[in-house]
Amino acid sequence: MVLDPEHVHRILDASPEPFATAETLKRHALKHFEPKVSLISHGEERTQRRQLNEAALDTDHPIHRMAESFMPAVREEAEGLLREVDAKGGTLEYPDFYQAWFRVVRRVVLGDSHRDDRQITDLTEKLRGRQLGLPEAGGQGRPQGAAGPDRRRTQQGRAGQPCGLHEGYGLRPGGSAYQPGAAVVLRLRSHGMASARSLALLAEHPEHMAKAREQIAAEGAETAPMLQHLRGTVLESLRLWATTPMILRETTREVEFEHGVMLKQARPC
Ligand code: HEM
Repeated sequence: MVLDPEHVHRILDASPEPFATAETLKRHALKHFEPKVSLISHGEERTQRRQLNEAALDTDHPIHRMAESFMPAVREEAEGLLREVDAKGGTLEYPDFYQAWFRVVRRVVLGDSHRDDRQITDLTEKLRGRQLGLPEAGGQGRPQGAAGPDRRRTQQGRAGQPCGLHEGYGLRPGGSAYQPGAAVVLRLRSHGMASARSLALLAEHPEHMAKAREQIAAEGAETAPMLQHLRGTVLESLRLWATTPMILRETTREVEFEHGVMLKQARPC
């Protein structure tokens, strides 16, 4: 276990060589349903898959190049959720947030025509649960229709229906070497959890909420200070309730630290 902050930086900076992200526990957890994700790939395959992610997610830009086309979906679903909250006497409950969040996820990732396609996100949730071996997901193994998310997206693409963020992945020649559908939807789930918890944080601090309301009323929601404030809230929620409890690495060779040598770990193929 790495305890020194400087060592943490060193290890993260020197991933994937000699600190491979494709590590035994992660491989076992992900190999059934996300066998081709960058996180459990190594060498040239990892480089290719990582580049594909960065291109599709626009890693170099603080705001995604397609943000303008995503925002109407986000606004409409947030407004719908607020109407539900009003109808329930002003309380936002997680199950309602969850449904609204996944409506946004489906519209942004797969396209507007998937707004009400709950089956696709229920299936990815089941996949995730089985990946982790959760009993409520029916234990381990591939649930019925598990090949679905990507195959269905491809069929939709062929039928010429508009796609969302997902299109960036599908356009790549040889894109079938990666399975992005379930992977992207699964990851947006952790962002949903972080967002819900950020709202809880704001609700716990009425003075911040009041200040935010004032600023939004005066200048709008997308000003630099407001975005910074919201970003800080999300980061604080992740600090308090980390969605990823552990970051795992495996050494590909012996590595020297000032207190001794970290041995090379055996890597199963
Ligand atoms: C609050 C939300 C999120 C948190 C806390 C989070 C956290 C993490 C962490 C800690 C890792 C590194 C795991 C490791 O190195 O072993 C990771 C990797 C990754 N995440 Fe997220 N993530 C979040 C949301 C997302 C979203 C929304 C996406 C994309 C839609 C995404 C895409 C990825 C990808 C592609 C990787 C693999 C990167 C690689 O192979 O080097 N994440 N995430």
